[in-house]
Amino acid sequence: MKAALVLCCLAAFVALHAADYVCNRDGNNMPDCTNSTNLGVKIRNFWDPTRYWLCNSTTSAAPASVICVKNFDNGTIEYQGFFAPKGDCVSWSEWTWTQPCA
Ligand SMILES: *[C@@H]1O[C@H](CO)[C@@H](O)[C@H](O)[C@H]1NC(C)=O
Ligand SMILES: *[C@@H]1O[C@H](CO)[C@@H](O)[C@H](O)[C@H]1NC(C)=O
Ligand SMILES: *[C@@H]1O[C@H](CO)[C@@H](O)[C@H](O)[C@H]1NC(C)=O
Repeated sequence: MKAALVLCCLAAFVALHAADYVCNRDGNNMPDCTNSTNLGVKIRNFWDPTRYWLCNSTTSAAPASVICVKNFDNGTIEYQGFFAPKGDCVSWSEWTWTQPCA
């Protein structure tokens, strides 16, 4: 309980000091693509671990919602989950849930 409180205050502190960008753990984490730091970066969708956000242009504010799927050379495909600590899709056997806004 104490640890949770500390984490909570720490999160609030970090949020307050991250000027423009505030991570909303209740939102879907959709990035603003007009901000060029988001360009080409795979960003976690808090609501759907089978997909991630991807900005491929700054001309449109809305990112593409890309499904995690791996194409193997032998022609088979595997649906995967987006794993935020790696910033990429991984097999479900490797995937674990992580705290949003970590
Ligand atoms: C752009 O995004 C970065 C990373 O999320 C953030 O730190 C920065 O404040 C943003 N800039 C603007 C102008 O929103
Ligand atoms: C870029 O994003 C748009 C949607 O915003 C999508 O239709 C298009 O296929 C994307 N292009 C690439 C190369 O990913
Ligand atoms: C295709 O390759 C993947 C990865 O090497 C493997 O897991 C899968 O079983 C293969 N599928 C077939 C039909 O050979």
